[in-house]
Amino acid sequence: MRNLIIVITATSLALLASSAFAVSSGKTLEFKGSETGVVIFDGATHKEAVASCKDCHKEGLFPKMKQGTVKITMEEIYAGRLCGVCHNGQKAFEAKGNCERCHVKK
Ligand code: HEC
Ligand code: HEC
Ligand code: HEC
Repeated sequence: MRNLIIVITATSLALLASSAFAVSSGKTLEFKGSETGVVIFDGATHKEAVASCKDCHKEGLFPKMKQGTVKITMEEIYAGRLCGVCHNGQKAFEAKGNCERCHVKK
């Protein structure tokens, strides 16, 4: 019971924090390094789809809240790392066959 309360408190705090300085929500990041097309990462979509900032901002994934600190390649994504942690056809749409859902032609 006590643990449950702690978990609930932590969750509410995390939700409060995320709305207070909700960067990624209301904000989009553009990754322009690929000839396949610019990738637009929408913070709002991800905030709705994912429980907390720490689902992504943690060691081994995207530790820094700063763009450009992690080099993203398709090899990593296909191997189930970086964006591929979720974009594997289970938590979110799969990368293979869905290029244009991330890479917008410009
Ligand atoms: C879940 C989103 C997502 C999907 C789906 C996706 N990509 Fe990417 N891709 C990225 C991101 C993010 C980068 C990094 C871009 C940057 O650094 O500016 C990238 C980089 C690349 C690069 C350059 C780096 C490398 O690995 O060679 C190529 C080429 C590429 N993608 C091709 C594709 C193709 C082809 C598909 C479909 C089979 C695809 N991508 C699907 C997100 C995605
Ligand atoms: C679905 C994954 C994901 C979630 C969830 C997420 N972020 Fe991010 N965030 C990223 C990625 C990827 C980057 C770029 C990191 C890089 O390029 O090294 C980033 C970058 C940032 C940046 C730097 C933006 C810039 O212009 O340089 C800030 C600030 C940030 N995130 C804050 C947050 C906050 C606050 C939350 C929770 C509300 C959050 N993020 C949730 C993936 C996520
Ligand atoms: C923690 C899980 C997670 C990570 C990591 C993640 N995503 Fe997503 N993403 C989702 C979910 C969940 C959705 C919504 C469900 C769906 O569309 O399949 C989504 C949706 C998207 C969409 C569609 C957005 C829209 O507006 O329709 C794009 C584009 C996208 N992600 C790109 C990325 C890129 C690029 C990265 C890496 C920088 C990334 N995602 C990392 C979970 C994640």
